[in-house]
Amino acid sequence: TLSDPDLDVYLLDTDLTAALELDARAGLTATPKTLPPKYFYDARGSELFEEITRLPEYYPTRAEREILVAQAAVIARVTGAKTLVELGSGSSEKTRLLLDALRDAGTLGSFAPLDVSASALRDAVATLRVEYPDLHVRGIVADFVNHLETLPDNGDRLVAFLGGTIGNFTPSERAPFLAALRDRLSPGEWLLLGADLVKSPSVLVPAYDDAAGVTAEFNRNVLHVLNRTLDADFDVAAFEHVAVWDPTNEWIEMRLRARSAQRVHVGGLDLTVDFAAGEELRTEVSAKFRQDGLTAELAAAGFGLRHWWTDQAGRFALALAVA
Ligand code: AVJ
Repeated sequence: TLSDPDLDVYLLDTDLTAALELDARAGLTATPKTLPPKYFYDARGSELFEEITRLPEYYPTRAEREILVAQAAVIARVTGAKTLVELGSGSSEKTRLLLDALRDAGTLGSFAPLDVSASALRDAVATLRVEYPDLHVRGIVADFVNHLETLPDNGDRLVAFLGGTIGNFTPSERAPFLAALRDRLSPGEWLLLGADLVKSPSVLVPAYDDAAGVTAEFNRNVLHVLNRTLDADFDVAAFEHVAVWDPTNEWIEMRLRARSAQRVHVGGLDLTVDFAAGEELRTEVSAKFRQDGLTAELAAAGFGLRHWWTDQAGRFALALAVA
């Protein structure tokens, strides 16, 4: 895949496996047990996430799209971007709104979606090439935490980090990430950041624990990833999906709770992991934001907030900030 014409590959499956080995060993032997959320997104996980974005309870995707519909032309005019870079692009579905606006403004030359999932990127790039024949499209298979140096530098960039994925970082991870991103940009280049907002747990919790059980399947899918990639023997059905709102940290946590005591062998790590009945494995934090806090975090990283837009219902925000 190194010579794939559609993709620049900085992250091989073997790198992902090596990272998963380190993260799984650290996380499964910690108290409480944890796993980083990036391992959700194998081909099946990416599909399940797309399904989540269409669930009635999962408002962030629709709320963000509503803002993009209303503001894409403004974003294009204000930024005048020649290159759109999208971090954690997935299927790049909402990105079309930005691509259309930047194309209509006459500035756009290239689009660089960056994602850890080569399968999702390959599909997205193939489709975009057909839809935007004049656009230079090249996917970057990379981890936006460890490979920010892979961002293309054609000048006049707009970096889009949409969907609320910034919420997957804890505050102590966000600060260095935002500072590193700012460092990669030149003064006058732009960041468009999607952030889910603090709101009632009666809205937040169902968004992460839907009635159809899609999020539960998405969460449990990470155990299939461990079984396949690390030769583990998790009894996937023995783990229950849990979503809780942490009002102190203002984040949603997803966990997998052992329904009964479980002994798991992770062959690839030569590790045996015991779960007590009811013991939980934390698989994701999804932080929720307030305008003051996020503006301060952006400023601390060297970004100046120029616009803050929310959907009509005030559930989700798009922040446009300049380096
Ligand atoms: C892709 C990280 C933005 O946190 O809302 C959806 C992932 N997890 N349902 C989110 C997710 C459970 C999503 N992000």
